[in-house]
Order: sequence, then C-alpha cells, then structure tokens
Amino acid sequence: MIKPKLALCGTILLLTLATTPLHGAIHFSRHEKAVDALLARMTLDEKIGQMVQADCAALKDKSHVAKYFLGSVLSGGDSDPDSGNTAQDWLNWISGFQDQALQTRLKIPILYGVDAVHGHNNVDGAVVFPHNIGLGATHDRKLVKRAAEVTAREVAGTGSRWAFAPCVAVPQDDRWGRTYEGFGDNTDLVSELGVEATIGLQGRKLSSKPATVLASAKHYVGDGGTTNGIDQGDMICDEATLRKIHLPPYRAAIEAGVGSIMVSYSSWNGKKLHGHKYLITDVLKGELGFRGFVVSDWAAIDQLSSNYKDNVERSINAGLDMVMIPNGPGKANHYVEFIEDLKALVAEGKVSQSRIDDAVRRILRVKFQMGLFESTAVDPKLTAAIGSPKHRAVARECVRKSLVLLKNENRALPLSKNIRHLAVVGAAADDLGMQCGGWTVKWQGERGNVMTGGTTLLAAIRESALPKTTVTYSADGSDLKNADAIIVVVGEAPYAEGKGDITDLNLASADRELIAKARAAGAPVVTILYSGRPLVLGSALTDSDAFIAAWLPGTEGAGITDVLFGDHPFTGKLPRAWPASNDRAEEPLLPFGYGLKARSRR
Ligand code: GLC
Repeated sequence: MIKPKLALCGTILLLTLATTPLHGAIHFSRHEKAVDALLARMTLDEKIGQMVQADCAALKDKSHVAKYFLGSVLSGGDSDPDSGNTAQDWLNWISGFQDQALQTRLKIPILYGVDAVHGHNNVDGAVVFPHNIGLGATHDRKLVKRAAEVTAREVAGTGSRWAFAPCVAVPQDDRWGRTYEGFGDNTDLVSELGVEATIGLQGRKLSSKPATVLASAKHYVGDGGTTNGIDQGDMICDEATLRKIHLPPYRAAIEAGVGSIMVSYSSWNGKKLHGHKYLITDVLKGELGFRGFVVSDWAAIDQLSSNYKDNVERSINAGLDMVMIPNGPGKANHYVEFIEDLKALVAEGKVSQSRIDDAVRRILRVKFQMGLFESTAVDPKLTAAIGSPKHRAVARECVRKSLVLLKNENRALPLSKNIRHLAVVGAAADDLGMQCGGWTVKWQGERGNVMTGGTTLLAAIRESALPKTTVTYSADGSDLKNADAIIVVVGEAPYAEGKGDITDLNLASADRELIAKARAAGAPVVTILYSGRPLVLGSALTDSDAFIAAWLPGTEGAGITDVLFGDHPFTGKLPRAWPASNDRAEEPLLPFGYGLKARSRR
C-alpha cells in the first residue's frame, strides 16, 4: 500500500509533467547521452568547426570541409552549383561536400542549408509555390502544411536536409522589401501558418525520415517591425510591443519543435540582434526554452563593428551557436578567420569552453535527432519526384486559394467559357520570372522564362480556353479590337530583401495607363496584379471591372485560370490590410480578411 505522502508526491509529479509544455520534441531528445559522449571526444578545433556554416561559393577547395571539420555548408541565394542547375547537379554538388565531412576522424555529417522559401526555388524544374504572402491569403493551415511537405521532399531529393524557412516575420510596413516573405501583418495568422510550415518541413518532430528537413524560423526577432519598413533597420518599440506582435510566432514554432532559429540583421532600439544576449540567451533559450540551435544570417556578425574578432566574441557570447560565413570583399576563406579568432578568444578566456560546448551540443542534438549519423543517403524516389505533376497540383491549389478578389462588378467574373475573343494584355502575363518573384533561381529573381516546367498565365489561358475562343496577346495593349473581355496583367519586377524597399506604394503609372487603355476599348476589364505587397491602386481599381490580387503565385499559372473561368470559386482573403494611400495614418482601403466571392460554374 503506497504511503499517503508518497502518493501525494507522485500525484504532484504527474500533474507537473502533464502541465509542462513540451517544447517540441527537441526538448526531450533521447539522444542526450550520445551527444555528450561525442562531445567528450571532440577537440576544440572539431567543436569550433561545427559552429561554422560556410557558403559553398567560398569553398573553392571542398576539402576544407574536412580540414576545418565544418558543421554546415549553405547555398546562398546566388550560390548555385558550378556544374549546372538541374536537380541532379544539386545532388552531386551537395554530396561532394557531405563526402568530405564523412572522411573526418569523427565522421560528423554536415547539414547543407538552402533558401527553399517558396519551394526548392533555385533548382531548375522544381515547383515554385506562391510566396508566403500568397499562402497567407489562403488562410488554410492544412494547405500550408502540404506545401511545406512538398518543399521538404524536393529539397531532400537534392541531398539537402535544411530549409531556411519559414520566415515568421510579421511585416508592419508594406514598403519593406521582404513583405512578401511574411504570411501577413496579423500575429495570430503568422503564428498559425508558421507552425504548419514548420511541421510540413520537419514532421511532427525532427526525425530521420528522409523526406523531412530541418526548418529555421526566421528572422529573430522583429525584422518586420523596423521604422519605415527599412530592411535591416531599427525596430523602435517597447518590450510589450515586441512581445505582443513579433515574439509569438517563435514561441509557437518552438512548441512545434523547430530545430533552428535564424537571427535578424535588424536592431531593437538601436541594438543589433546579432549581439543581443538578452533576446537570444535569456528570452529565446531561457524563457522560451529553445533547445535547437541559433544560426546567424549571411555575414551578419560582420555588421556589429569594424573589428571582426570583437564581432565573433559578441555574437557567440550573445548566444549564436552557428555562424553563416560567405567570403566578403577581400575576404577569401573568411571562415578560416572566424575559426582562428574564436580559438584565440577561448584561449584568452573571452569565450568560455562551456559556451562552445552549449553551441556544439545543440548542433549535435539536431543532427542526432535527424538520424544523420545513421544515414545521409538520399532516396532516389525523392529526386525523381522533383517537379512532378502531383507536386504541381498542390502548388496549383495554393495559387487558386491565394487569389483575393478585390472587385467584381458587372458580373465580369467568372469569365464565360463560351467567350468568343479574349484579349490578354501586359508583359507580366507572359513572364514566369514576374510570376515567381524574388528568390527564384537567383537571389533577386529575374524577368523572363526562369525555369523549365512552369506555366505562365498566358499559357494557362491558351491551354484552358475552348477552341471557339480566340485568345490574343499584346504586351502593350495594341490588340484590343472586338475583344469580348480584356485581361490586364501588371505588377512588380522581381526583387529580394532591401533591394525591394520602396518609399512610394503607388502602382506604377505605366501599369495604370495600360489598364486605362483597356478600359477605353469598351470591353469588361479584369486586372490581375503580381506583387509582393499591397500597392496603392487609384485609377487602376476604378478602371477595372474586376480586380485580383495574385501576389507572387509561382510556376503554376493554371491556378489562376481555375478561378477566372469559374472551375473553382474565389476563396482568398487579405492577409494584410490594403492601403488607400502612402499615408500610413489613413484608414486602409480594405481591411485584413477582405475578399469577395465569385460563384463557380460547378
Ligand atoms: C539572406 C537572408 C536570409 C537567408 C540567408 C541565406 O541575407 O536574410 O533570409 O536565409 O541570407 O541566403
């Protein structure tokens, strides 16, 4: 018979365990003994090597992965394989670095990281999904998870097991060049979809499943709250605002088991996040209980001061565990400088051995959780499925559910399938690069036919129109005569990060003029906008009978025709308020959550 006191203790213990939130699976890793045993065998060189993530373009000599015991390699936005850009090229490229790591004394595998932020977007033939702002407009948690699952499968099919996603910024200012990387301006929406994307990439917990990858919630914290939306700028606010708007998505991602978190270039009240011990160590690792590892952004520690060694000291002591190190101007093998500086700092007692051990333990914990020590093999079925019709079907569903119908007068939509003459206008209608936006093949993206396997809106219209329909196309709107309806496609040229920062949200005047030209032709005008953010529309809206915010839909243009011709209804809702003007104090033109329905023909 259990003595009453013992029973009481047992009850308290059970109650405590039952109410203690499991900080994802990372917290109760069953690998702790293996981690500690490996750590105990490692030299300081081997430990510091694990804390280095070198850009592949800096590793002209791949043998440096082995020589310096590197823990990770990445492909930055423009660091595609030297040999080519097919999935096989990527697989061969990444395998070459892994082979080096497995030749080291302790055979600690690398994690190879890529910016798969809307599909495995740099690989030719991969499926490119709508950017997060479009996924935010779906308000569909399950769909966002499915999109991330496909992305993980395509990333893993090229030998990478790490996607620098999801971006869980909560962009507050449309002028920020990274607005489209955020799901929306609403913290709850971002938290919910960030969780689904994390689970889609990693699974319910980090595991050895070959079709899963490590996720990185980014960029910690407040990257979307900077003054005037200036990229890498300063967020000036009290701690209550930071905790209310920008912190919850990280708490949610940690609860979902996110294995890594990337720090933001930006500052909070004048202090750079990459040197912010309170936010990284005390809040993220302490209060939120994050047990994965914290990775820097691209050469971000270099921004802390002009003294690199001081930057290494400040960032590592602030709580950074892994540092992303490309070559810099005049800095060949910059990662060697990092290694030498950190070794010296440990010798000088300025960075403690326990700090090094904490960082390496976190990195090893993730690698054990992912089964990398058992196998780094790539399932060939994953490679073969890159760009498959099944994957494209998921992206097509994301596209159609991302479209937000802002206006639909005179029953302009859905278009009749019996329409006789449909005129398509605007260069964007036949430009896959504009349809995909930044982070596509190249860091900044680019205009034109950026990759094989994609479908422009014009191609989709031609494929879906019935034989009796004449489809004409003129980029400049020169062929509108006798059209029964006119589709005008306008929007932003591709951009990424700070290169997309703007001060004027007005839609380009050339786009407004093209829409006005279509209006003058006298037929119903359906305007479709490709953009990474809401733009001030003015006459573009009043001159259109119907207006669709399509965001940056990616390769599957047929997702747009699915709703244009009524095969599917419009269901998208604004993931962020739509501004009426450049005056941020003015009431929005349309609120968060706005979106018209248009009956489907089914
Ligand atoms: C970039 C971005 C970050 C990306 C990293 C690697 O500058 O800020 O989102 O993951 O560098 O390309």
